[in-house]
Amino acid sequence: MPLRSLFATQIYTARLGPARAAALNGQLQRESLQLRRDDRAGRAWSRHNYPGGYTSYNSLCQLQRISPSFARLERVLDRHVTRFARALELDLRGRKLAMTDCWVNIMQRQVVHGLHLHPLATISGTYYVRTPPGCAGLKFEDPRLERYMAAPPRKARARMPNRAWVTLPAIAGQLVLFESWLRHEVPLNPAPGERVSVSFNYSWF
Ligand code: NI
Repeated sequence: MPLRSLFATQIYTARLGPARAAALNGQLQRESLQLRRDDRAGRAWSRHNYPGGYTSYNSLCQLQRISPSFARLERVLDRHVTRFARALELDLRGRKLAMTDCWVNIMQRQVVHGLHLHPLATISGTYYVRTPPGCAGLKFEDPRLERYMAAPPRKARARMPNRAWVTLPAIAGQLVLFESWLRHEVPLNPAPGERVSVSFNYSWF
């Protein structure tokens, strides 16, 4: 068919090798649980802003600067962010993309993280540390949604590029990158057991 796909919304996913992921995730998981124990301010903030779960988003949000394990993750992510920026054909005008923030999220069953975007960042993403079977994925929303007006809905089984919402599964050892303006959420987590992820922002300097 003579179709052209324009204004594509690109999302980058990659998986670490199993041995590498196992070693890194063991360390990240231990530190994440320790952070939750130690981070009183973060627990208090999470009570109001992340009910039922824990996030260090507002208290310890530059973990790559204080933990060698998170710094190791940063080095892995740097390479993928560079590849993604190349695929997006970003003209960085001689500047570089660098990690600005990196924080931990721990979600128990029934915890939800509503629709949001990441202002003041260029590329954002998540790396999955622990993903109990059946846990919530990452749901993206078509950025053109508010312009649909009288448009008919898409078929329930429409191909992924034609859907208004797409949920990518959360898989331990996998990372997901997207441009920071893209709205996303973690729907209610239906699975027992703790889902642990690390989120991060990159900006261009
Ligand atoms: Ni987010």
